[in-house]
Amino acid sequence: MLYIGSLLIIFLLVLVHFGNTWSVNNFLMTGPKAYLIYSSSVAAGAQSGIEECKYQFAWDRWNCPERTLQLSSHSGLRSANRETAFVHAISSAGVMYTLTRNCSLGDFDNCGCDDSRNGQLGGQGWLWGGCSDNVGFGEAISKQFVDALETGQDARAAMNLHNNEAGRKAVQNTMKTTCKCHGVSGSCTTQTCWLQLSEFREVGYYLKEKYNKALKVDLLQGAGNSAASRGAIAETFSSISKEELVHLEDSPDYCLENKTLGLQGTEGRECLKRGKTLNKWEKRSCKRLCGDCGLAVEERRADMVSSCNCKFHWCCAVKCEQCRKSVTKYFCVKKAKRERSGGGITRKKETKLKKKF
Ligand SMILES: *[C@@H]1O[C@H](CO)[C@@H](O)[C@H](O)[C@H]1NC(C)=O
Ligand SMILES: *[C@@H]1O[C@H](CO)[C@@H](O)[C@H](O)[C@H]1NC(C)=O
Repeated sequence: MLYIGSLLIIFLLVLVHFGNTWSVNNFLMTGPKAYLIYSSSVAAGAQSGIEECKYQFAWDRWNCPERTLQLSSHSGLRSANRETAFVHAISSAGVMYTLTRNCSLGDFDNCGCDDSRNGQLGGQGWLWGGCSDNVGFGEAISKQFVDALETGQDARAAMNLHNNEAGRKAVQNTMKTTCKCHGVSGSCTTQTCWLQLSEFREVGYYLKEKYNKALKVDLLQGAGNSAASRGAIAETFSSISKEELVHLEDSPDYCLENKTLGLQGTEGRECLKRGKTLNKWEKRSCKRLCGDCGLAVEERRADMVSSCNCKFHWCCAVKCEQCRKSVTKYFCVKKAKRERSGGGITRKKETKLKKKF
């Protein structure tokens, strides 16, 4: 069977990589060889989860900072809020996703496409066929790695396990059916279809929605470690759909710096204002990060110099022109004392910035 120690090491290595201060010295680097086969995938998967977290929260007050990415309940902070829920779900999803993809690509000897249903009727006019991504494999292995980090029996451990599961469900629920037509010159009289993973970005958007609707359960007050309270915890969590994110605590005020919690606050953060490609959420980022947090927006102009109009000269040189472009960026700054009124005031600051590409 598995040694929990070896599972922890792999996760700790991931965490150490992200600037955590945990020590791996206390754990023995031993364990079944089978686990070493998957460890690089698990590490890559956890990392892709964190990268997706940073993408999804780039314009939120909480922007998935490294300090809060301590996965298990061993962490000193042991927060149990909505953001903790998201971190667990996206990490767990990342691990399952990567293992599944590795499997389809033939990276593991013991696993390949899921062809268990091939040849069977899937729906009207189509049969299962081709190479379905083997999520069953990804789910089973990722579960063993990620869930093994929760050794406690308290409400926080139960919450983490629930959200790990929600992450795995997200990978499954975003899968797409892809089909291929058969028949005389594309007549498509029959089709074969298979199940394919979506882009991981889709899983990120899916889980961000779940984050917005996360459910709060009240289990921390007066919860002891008795069999009765463990029973109550199990009962509560089993009554909530496995697809939903769950949290126990409210989030702190992310506008404010709080060193104890490792939070930087939104002062100094960049926000977005103009641009055709911005969505609604991004367009409101200056209000959300600065204005609503009692900060002013500062406009900073910068001249960017970059290489452009490059031409290839025979032989062998590339000659470029230097193009100058003025870019405007916006940042949250403390309000000056005089301009106490009017949160929408934009201060301007010109800076010269040279940047070579
Ligand atoms: C699985 O895929 C990830 C990312 O694509 C890669 O970094 C890792 O090395 C792969 N694992 C194996 C065992 O091939
Ligand atoms: C930081 O957060 C803790 C826990 O929520 C709270 O007790 C404390 O007052 C906060 N500190 C500041 C400076 O806001």
